[in-house]
Amino acid sequence: MRSNLFTSLLTLIPVLGDLALGYEVQTPPLDTDWTYTVGTDPWPEYPRPQLQRDEWQSLNGIWKWKSASYPGEPVPAKGSFDEDILVPSCIESAISGVMKMNQTYSWYRTEFTVPQDYIQKGKRVLLNFEAVDHQATVYVNGDLVGIHVGGYWHFNFDVTKYLNTNGTNTLHVFVFDPTDAEGYMNPVGKQTRVPSHIFYTPCTGIWQTVWLESVPDTYIQQLDIIAEMDGTVNVTVTTNQGTDSVSVSILDGEGASVASVNSGTANKAFDFKVSSPKLWSPDSPTLYNLTVTVGEDTVNSYTGFRTLSTGEIDGVTRPLLNGEFIFQFGTLDQGFWPDGIYTPPNREAMVYDLKMLKDLGLNMLRKHIKVENALFYRACDELGLLLIQDMPSMPLRTPDADQQAEWERQLDILIQQHKNYPSIYTWVIYNEGWGQITDYYPEFNLTARVKQLDPTRFVDSTTGWHDHGAGDFHDNHHYANPQCGTPFYSIQSTPYDNKRIAIQGEFGGIGHNVSAEHLWKVELAVQQINQTYEIDADLDAYNYRGHLLLSELRDQVEKYACSGAVWTQTTDVEGEVNGFLTYDRRLQRTDKKQWRADIQALYDAAASRGGKATNATTRKFRL
Ligand SMILES: *[C@@H]1O[C@H](CO)[C@@H](O)[C@H](O)[C@H]1NC(C)=O
Ligand SMILES: *[C@@H]1O[C@H](CO)[C@@H](O)[C@H](O)[C@H]1NC(C)=O
Ligand SMILES: *[C@@H]1O[C@H](CO)[C@@H](O)[C@H](O)[C@H]1NC(C)=O
Ligand SMILES: *[C@@H]1O[C@H](CO)[C@@H](O)[C@H](O)[C@H]1NC(C)=O
Ligand SMILES: *[C@@H]1O[C@H](CO)[C@@H](O)[C@H](O)[C@H]1NC(C)=O
Ligand SMILES: *[C@@H]1O[C@H](CO)[C@@H](O)[C@H](O)[C@H]1NC(C)=O
Ligand SMILES: *[C@@H]1O[C@H](CO)[C@@H](O)[C@H](O)[C@H]1NC(C)=O
Ligand SMILES: *[C@@H]1O[C@H](CO)[C@@H](O)[C@H](O)[C@H]1NC(C)=O
Repeated sequence: MRSNLFTSLLTLIPVLGDLALGYEVQTPPLDTDWTYTVGTDPWPEYPRPQLQRDEWQSLNGIWKWKSASYPGEPVPAKGSFDEDILVPSCIESAISGVMKMNQTYSWYRTEFTVPQDYIQKGKRVLLNFEAVDHQATVYVNGDLVGIHVGGYWHFNFDVTKYLNTNGTNTLHVFVFDPTDAEGYMNPVGKQTRVPSHIFYTPCTGIWQTVWLESVPDTYIQQLDIIAEMDGTVNVTVTTNQGTDSVSVSILDGEGASVASVNSGTANKAFDFKVSSPKLWSPDSPTLYNLTVTVGEDTVNSYTGFRTLSTGEIDGVTRPLLNGEFIFQFGTLDQGFWPDGIYTPPNREAMVYDLKMLKDLGLNMLRKHIKVENALFYRACDELGLLLIQDMPSMPLRTPDADQQAEWERQLDILIQQHKNYPSIYTWVIYNEGWGQITDYYPEFNLTARVKQLDPTRFVDSTTGWHDHGAGDFHDNHHYANPQCGTPFYSIQSTPYDNKRIAIQGEFGGIGHNVSAEHLWKVELAVQQINQTYEIDADLDAYNYRGHLLLSELRDQVEKYACSGAVWTQTTDVEGEVNGFLTYDRRLQRTDKKQWRADIQALYDAAASRGGKATNATTRKFRL
């Protein structure tokens, strides 16, 4: 018996060695209720709700990882990997299992099995990455498949010809991410290698889902859908080849067909009408499912019917949703997590923040110089949260011509990849002058470019600081109190320009220190808490100040031209302690009853200035 047990143990050892026993969540400087529930099958949801297919397979889970030292390193041997990593995650995060900073170059390795029916004649296999920060070089079975640059965007490669016929394959990804290291100017948002107060721990590597899907030879690559309040649906179905005919059907909430069209052609816009659709709005976020078929390929998607425009009400230029002015009140939403950095621990955690905001009566949020995964946008579409979507900014320096061109290339990608979410209503180009060239004013041409790519939404060309008159909004930042559509202003701000819509892109930001258990336990971050604009010594003081500041904003809605405002911010982030929630999401500072009432008062004040514009002044954005 004993020797039998001994030999069976011996044979078990190499098997267990392959079973990723090495992965372990590290201890972050602060955890959340979700940190230790992530497990080894993270983000199991279908990752792309706007283009769903039945045949797919997640590659998320435990992969092998190692540091690398230079670009162009040969693909390493299997035995040279000694660390495990959870995919998706940021290498700097505790959830990754690695938790290391400054990994400029690194290798990932995994094996995957492709079902036999994926590799039949007439079919293709796509390898999808939802986001890799910053540059990914992808190898399948040792062969170079492709390179992708840009940390926030989804991309895929047709890997059909690289696959082994026996189904077993090896995937290597070489990642290069300098973040904001000397000499580099990439879109990084708030990531920095030297975290300090309002700049935080960076994210490196494969931080969103990796997955395979099986598609027919001719397949749909993108759906562009514009569904207007009058029922017009404008559809462009982009495929990899050809001009096959397209059929589209739209289903209502009960699954009944409200439109069915067979007359479209791939790679060419066409439109049709749905009679009296239920409109999408924050109060009634109605979505319709869609099924689109081209040849052998069928995908499911969804849309919401709504129209954005500007109009004049009571002499004030207003943003209109479905022909009506509603005041937009939201938070600056940075999407950082103490355990996952850029990757929320799971969907439940991600949606927890959104539900907290909705519960306080907010109808908007500003996704601040970060881009989230597709499930985040889907959640905002479902919950009825309008989104101001910022382009991730470059570091606080002036880019050279090549860096500017690359950033502009990625601005195009932001629009192209996100212009189908009903919740997004505004694009931001520049935040507070970060990476903004000021010896000429590129925001004018960039605004025209964004409007050309997406003629249906508002463009906030410069939120805060260097405003030269571009775009739909006049947007001041001011702390703590607002200066929204007012004839008074301070340094870095300008008096209201009545040709545009007035919004307050940032205000509030009042700080409140908490007990050490809720703090990001990094000494420098704790030392820098005193750099906050204002510290309120207790929650009574915090809520008192919140009430005063919202009341002041309400005055500006009543008396001046204020149409929307963004409060800093949803949660604390590292040493910045000014969130509705602490960084661990365990303490909510806002007195719910009071804040709900104060936020409702903003909507009421706006409504008392009139909700409908006259036809004569209403202007759709269509060029
Ligand atoms: C990372 O690199 C930066 C320089 O870019 C340096 O200041 C910092 O101390 C390094 N961080 C760690 C943890 O090594
Ligand atoms: C599958 O085929 C590849 C390439 O021919 C080979 O290297 C690998 O060992 C095979 N794997 C299995 C499980 O048969
Ligand atoms: C549909 O969209 C295409 C591409 O944006 C545009 O050229 C066309 O004018 C649109 N049609 C309608 C009816 O809006
Ligand atoms: C719409 O699609 C979603 C996602 O595929 C599905 O969960 C939902 O049940 C569908 N709704 C209807 C009414 O068909
Ligand atoms: C901006 O656009 C105008 C008009 O298309 C063009 O003449 C000008 O050269 C552009 N400026 C820059 C800096 O690209
Ligand atoms: C904040 O505190 C640090 C030490 O904890 C101190 O060195 C610094 O001078 C303080 N700064 C301000 C603005 O009070
Ligand atoms: C905030 O609280 C922490 C933990 O109690 C403390 O170490 C730090 O000095 C406090 N900072 C300020 C500015 O109150
Ligand atoms: C605006 O125009 C529509 C359609 O032309 C018309 O039904 C509506 O009464 C007009 N509204 C106003 C306020 O003039």
